[in-house]
Amino acid sequence: RTVYVNGEYLPETEAKVSIFDRGFLMADAVYEVTSVLDGKLIDFDGHAVRLKRSLNELQMAEPCSMDELLEIHRKLVELNGIEEGLVYLQVTRGSDGDRDFVFPPADTKPTMVLFTQNKPGLADSEASRTGAKIISIEDIRWGRRDIKTTQLLYPSLGKMMAKAAGCDDAWMIEDGYVTEGTSNNAYFVKNGKIVTRPLSNDILHGITRKAVLRMAAEAQMEIEERLFTIDEAKEADEAFTTSASAFVMPVIEIDGVMLGDGTPGPIAKRLREIYLDESR
Ligand code: PDD
Repeated sequence: RTVYVNGEYLPETEAKVSIFDRGFLMADAVYEVTSVLDGKLIDFDGHAVRLKRSLNELQMAEPCSMDELLEIHRKLVELNGIEEGLVYLQVTRGSDGDRDFVFPPADTKPTMVLFTQNKPGLADSEASRTGAKIISIEDIRWGRRDIKTTQLLYPSLGKMMAKAAGCDDAWMIEDGYVTEGTSNNAYFVKNGKIVTRPLSNDILHGITRKAVLRMAAEAQMEIEERLFTIDEAKEADEAFTTSASAFVMPVIEIDGVMLGDGTPGPIAKRLREIYLDESR
């Protein structure tokens, strides 16, 4: 793979970042994952706007213009011949060569790295045809989940807990209400109505969420943004998640309770189709 590090395109084995980088030492870093279908970036503008917001919330400098960022994305997709896959982007506060809780001087150069992940068959994955089994776990992440930071240890542990239970993913619960999945936004459908948690600091403002809710409204589907419990989701007709890495993913089981007939529900399937059609 050819990767990008601070202005250079390099073979992945030659790419280097300092051991003092605050992204490495303190997870002082933000990221974006943009999907690629038919060699084209999906919703790059949405990801660029959210990146700017994340940087701004953490008083981090913008490493380059959003036009330059688009060029870097496109070049990596081309250099690596990606037809279906992902582009990962990370920006860190960099380092002034030591470990310190205090931020380095404001003129410290941010670190920016990008790499591609080739995922042939992403749009027609086996997982999307089967649907996902999820478990619920407590949400013990920090309180600014709207900022897309690389503090992903707990979501990673959550995914491992799901795997250990023979499932695919975990939904997190705070104060009795579902927040989101480890790396996706969460929805259930009851009597034709789509229910999902409203935007706040408690969840990531998914780029796919925004697009899918718009498409659902355009398709005259009923949507309610409100808090919901895991018990409501277990009693639902169907459920699903959205993310740039899995688009719309049907959920067929929650904490061992089968939803509907245990196969992907019609609304999740239809939204997946609409999303893939319209994004391409
Ligand atoms: N995750 N919620 C969380 C906690 C996420 O990490 C993600 C994305 C989403 C969905 O956001 P979007 O639709 O913009 O991808 C919601 C990415 C894909 C990841 O960490 O790999």
